Amino acid sequence: MFKSLLKAFSSSKSDSLPLADLSSLSTDMHSHLIPGIDDGAKTIEESIELIRTLHGLGYTKLITTPHIMSDYFRNTPEIIYKGLEEVRAALIENNIPVQISAAAEYYIDDGFMRKLEEEKLMTFGDNYLLVEVSYINPPDNVRDILFRAQVLGYRPILAHPERYPFWYRTIEEYQKFYDMGVLLQLNLNSLSGYYGLDAKRVAEKLIDLQIISALGTDLHHSKHGEFLQRTVNEKYLQKILEQPLINREL
Ligand SMILES: [Fe+2]
Repeated sequence: MFKSLLKAFSSSKSDSLPLADLSSLSTDMHSHLIPGIDDGAKTIEESIELIRTLHGLGYTKLITTPHIMSDYFRNTPEIIYKGLEEVRAALIENNIPVQISAAAEYYIDDGFMRKLEEEKLMTFGDNYLLVEVSYINPPDNVRDILFRAQVLGYRPILAHPERYPFWYRTIEEYQKFYDMGVLLQLNLNSLSGYYGLDAKRVAEKLIDLQIISALGTDLHHSKHGEFLQRTVNEKYLQKILEQPLINREL
């Protein structure tokens, strides 16, 4: 009894927390680590610091996914691959044994529709295509768009479904994505409460429904890294790690 109280007390201090062990996943497939091209790492030094954090959590392979949007972050494959080379060179220089490759996190807007029809989109693994939607308005025809992507041969993954408040009261919407073969990717930091209690509650619900297929850190900055450490104490982390996840095949 005394020992468990002591443990609870000591683990309430963030500096004494054990590192969350995510090594059974081996690969993180959602992050913003290329410097200066989106709202993630700003400098190459920050990129390296964030990658050290991910390595410390047990990851050995990273697929980083800069935002591609029509307005805010107008990234292209050329911009992303150029930044990726800079990160790879810095990893070698700093002796960090982590493999890194790049895809993108596509924001579904009108520009996305054009890109979908006209360009070869950046994917990873078995043609997985990471997409996100607005946090404010539910896109009218999101399922039609994702179906079109499937017809074109992509395997869409919806990033952080637990972060869209307009679906909180209709949990069946998530089941519909799952049933049509759209994979759902949970952000680990939703389990630590970083995005609020509603996102945490929905994340846990999706885990209970067993409809999550991938886990991502969505790491943008060191604050996210600090919260990732806290996931180690979440019982739902263990629960999701026991389910089949594509991270292990990447
Ligand atoms: Fe992201």
